[in-house]
Amino acid sequence: MAVKFYQEQNQVPLEMHKVRMVQKLSLLPVEERLKKIQEAGNNTFLLQNRDIYLDMLTDSGVNAMSDLQMAASMRADDSYAGSETFNRVKDAVKEVFGTENVLPAHQGRACENILASALVQPGQVALMNFHFTTTKAHITRMGGTVEELVAEKGLKPQTNDPFKGDFDLKKLKATIKEKGAENVAFVRVEAGTNLIGGQPVSLENMLAVTDICHDNNIVSVLDASLLQDNVYFMKTREARCKYMDLKSIYHLLADHFDIIYFSARKLGFAKGGIITSKDPKYTKMMMEYIPLYEGFLTYGGIDVRTMEAMAQGLYESLDMEYINQGPEFINYLANELNEYGVPVILPAGGLGCHLNAGAFVPDMPHNEYPAAAVAAALYIAGGIRGMERGTLSEQRNPDGTEPFAELELMRLAVPRRVYTLSQLKYVADRVKWLWDNRELIGGLEWVEEPSVLRFFAGRLKEKGYWQEQLAEKFRNDFGESL
Ligand code: F0G
Repeated sequence: MAVKFYQEQNQVPLEMHKVRMVQKLSLLPVEERLKKIQEAGNNTFLLQNRDIYLDMLTDSGVNAMSDLQMAASMRADDSYAGSETFNRVKDAVKEVFGTENVLPAHQGRACENILASALVQPGQVALMNFHFTTTKAHITRMGGTVEELVAEKGLKPQTNDPFKGDFDLKKLKATIKEKGAENVAFVRVEAGTNLIGGQPVSLENMLAVTDICHDNNIVSVLDASLLQDNVYFMKTREARCKYMDLKSIYHLLADHFDIIYFSARKLGFAKGGIITSKDPKYTKMMMEYIPLYEGFLTYGGIDVRTMEAMAQGLYESLDMEYINQGPEFINYLANELNEYGVPVILPAGGLGCHLNAGAFVPDMPHNEYPAAAVAAALYIAGGIRGMERGTLSEQRNPDGTEPFAELELMRLAVPRRVYTLSQLKYVADRVKWLWDNRELIGGLEWVEEPSVLRFFAGRLKEKGYWQEQLAEKFRNDFGESL
């Protein structure tokens, strides 16, 4: 399916689109970069975009939209109730998932708020392959807990396994038995498991999970935010899916899961969130929360122009020439880094390329935040903004102790159709420089630590003066270069 190059050594992922609108970027000198990251409390969320060359914080809401998405947004119907725009969103959801019951919410975490409000009772547990930050925060807010049941392979930084996001099915059955089905609020499968490197779940595993839920009378939920990448991996890595068209994969999933929700900042390449189910009983359970928290049932807090773009984006998620772009570019970046000897999560997943930050600074304790230190260092090294996905992204336990992340990852998200291959080559080159100078990277300590989702707005400072030394080394090695 991919276009084969005549000269094998020239083979690169080839875009099946052209770019017709651009945005100017700038790269500050290293001395400025040092100042900016320190002013931002060593938290890449607190950097200003104008101070960033390549923004690889997230793929959320920052993928390039297609010409048809832009065009669709011009015909929006902004009536408060009964908007034609919402009917078009419903049509798109029906086409992709085959479901007719659709609730809109302003983004993915709003869907999670509603899901948790409707389904989680105090003392119940939600079982999942792996938590996502906002998902867990909403479940614990309702007095529930989260238990992670990802297969062992998922936590190994480098293995050959194509589906590292799979559930450990034996553990799932045993945990349900041990807790009692009535104490399980729901089982949630996260497609393209975010916090372990965007790792996919196989179709076979997803269906097996829903079967177990069905046998035990437990609600099954699919977080489809990263399903687009996941479906690409099913199609290219799973024998059964090779002969299925994309739509039949999505439909099969919707036939099996009780509830599907997603962040349209990811799936749909726009903004907003959707909850959908085949059986109306589930959307009925959640419906009353939409006007309360989000907005009327036909807009749910989403701007109507954005909803039109979302609808078109959903149709485009059925096009392999669109959905291959993220995973193939990520794979390119991960392979470059791997060839340079830099530790990255392999096989590459979706969403972004994940550096194994723990291996950059193997002696650094978790509570000096190795992945955040590597993220700050990479901004100094190249004006590149990544995201900490390790201990700092965890939430403290109620007793104040800190759970240490099993993987200390630094994520370099690759927004789809936004960066060119030469820009990714620059990223690989700067990361390689940082890897060669990793002995200069030191730890971080708190200056201000928020109690909820601390990674968003927390401020830290370097321990000692390692960042000044790193900037100095950069200047020595790169001369006048930015
Ligand atoms: N579920 C998953 C798997 C996600 O990756 C996200 C967001 C959400 C739910 C929440 O959706 O942002 O629309 O409220 N992930 C973003 C990221 C923030 O950068 O990984 P949201």
